[in-house]
Amino acid sequence: MDEMMAKRAMLALESLGSVVITDAEGRYIYVSPQRLRKGGYRLEDLLGKYVRDVYPDTLVDQVLQTRQPVLLCPLLTPTPYGVQQSFVSYYPLVDGEECLGCFLYTTFGGMNSALEFTHIVTELSRQVAQTRKQLQSIQKNSANYTTADIIGQSPAVNQLKREISMVARTSSNVLIQGETGTGKELVAHSIHSLSRRCGAPFLRVNCSAIPENLMESEFFGYEEGAFTGAKRGGRAGKFERASGGSLFLDEVNTLPMNMQPKFLRVIQEGEVERVGGGTSIPVDTRIISAANRPLEDLVRSGEFRQDLYYRLNVVRSVIPPLRERKEDIPLLVDMFISQLNVRMGLDIQAVQPQVLDLLMKHDWPGNVRELQNVVERAMNYAYEGVLTPSHFRFFQAHALGGPVRGLCPSAPRSGGCRAAEYERIQNALALCGGNKSAAAKSLGWARSTFYEKLKKMQAAELPGSPQLRPAAPPGGNHTGG
Ligand SMILES: Nc1ncnc2c1ncn2[C@@H]1O[C@H](COP(=O)(O)OP(=O)(O)OP(=O)(O)O)[C@@H](O)[C@H]1O
Ligand SMILES: [Mg+2]
Repeated sequence: MDEMMAKRAMLALESLGSVVITDAEGRYIYVSPQRLRKGGYRLEDLLGKYVRDVYPDTLVDQVLQTRQPVLLCPLLTPTPYGVQQSFVSYYPLVDGEECLGCFLYTTFGGMNSALEFTHIVTELSRQVAQTRKQLQSIQKNSANYTTADIIGQSPAVNQLKREISMVARTSSNVLIQGETGTGKELVAHSIHSLSRRCGAPFLRVNCSAIPENLMESEFFGYEEGAFTGAKRGGRAGKFERASGGSLFLDEVNTLPMNMQPKFLRVIQEGEVERVGGGTSIPVDTRIISAANRPLEDLVRSGEFRQDLYYRLNVVRSVIPPLRERKEDIPLLVDMFISQLNVRMGLDIQAVQPQVLDLLMKHDWPGNVRELQNVVERAMNYAYEGVLTPSHFRFFQAHALGGPVRGLCPSAPRSGGCRAAEYERIQNALALCGGNKSAAAKSLGWARSTFYEKLKKMQAAELPGSPQLRPAAPPGGNHTGG
């Protein structure tokens, strides 16, 4: 760089205001006159010194190491005239592979800068919120699961997956039947995801969640001025909005009788008429419905129209209850543990075989959802390692037909309720994120007492230990000791 260029660069730097440049080790090599004035320093006091020795909170070293800029970091500097407010932006000076130093730019101005900064943050937050909303709306109107999310290796689940792949090839309406918690929603999403319609919307509507007086406008839409409070320009209904894609009618068995002929018409004719409008709008919407009660029963009892039933039930998919495919339980448990570890910030590796024995004995009226709930509850009593029957004590009485046990609030500390004491230890550990000292403190015990009891508890939990065997007597006190 010739002398003239260097001079111009220097002038440019100075005109920027409060600027500092460091070398690759974080030592001052340039400080602009304005920065010196603001800080009350002389250049010779700073040159060659580490920035961290002058400002212990500086991010220079972090930026040199990560090579990532940090923008508008608030800085409070005590000066003889009071505390000075400023915002520092740090930029790494990178030349190819080499990091040559750090460029710091400081803005002062106290309240004004703070307000400006707040304004920037507010604007950014608004943009983030808006983007998040758009993303949610995209996610809401798309199918989020596919057959890979349906866990199970039982013949029933394998058959179900095959059926989904077959059904996905066509545009025929599908009726999914299964008890509560069997995964009807997963199946509906999967059918859409695998179909040619996957790029078009997937709209889910829970038929039991829409008030009867709003149903017509929700499903068929309305024209401007159709009723007081109607939106300007009218609004498309669900059938119209899902055109080209799929409309998932969840809990279709709850569809009121008076709405059923209207649905039949849309499905039969392939067109909707908005409320307050005279023209028919063609729609090409695949209807995937789910029922948690057999629709045939409702047809027989006169609660569901037979003609609509036939239109919805062109293809049928029946999901068997979990009690008929218990061999899927171990896989499902593993999957829930992995998912919940992430969500709950835990590190559970597996379950003891005795736990699986216990889970296999249950009938699971709530199906996979109930299993998910039981695993999550047990994980609240653990923090790492392996889930043992003691983590499932609440479930043992439940599984054996007794009342569901909650936590044992204040168990006697004698041998009369040892299991309850162990439960307190586990709860305390869970609540304190596995920190033993904190757990001991929360129980009001000395650390040594806590460690001693914990050691005894871990010894008692070894497989085959009589204390914590799964099969406690129904309604019994589960002490085993
Ligand atoms: N085979 C499966 N693999 C993985 N997760 C499953 C499976 N079946 C169900 N689930 C999970 O169980 C929970 C319940 O499933 P879903 O909501 O699909 O049930 P549902 O049949 O629609 O129940 P309901 O009739 O009560 O609405 C969900 O969290 C779902 O992800
Ligand atoms: Mg459902």
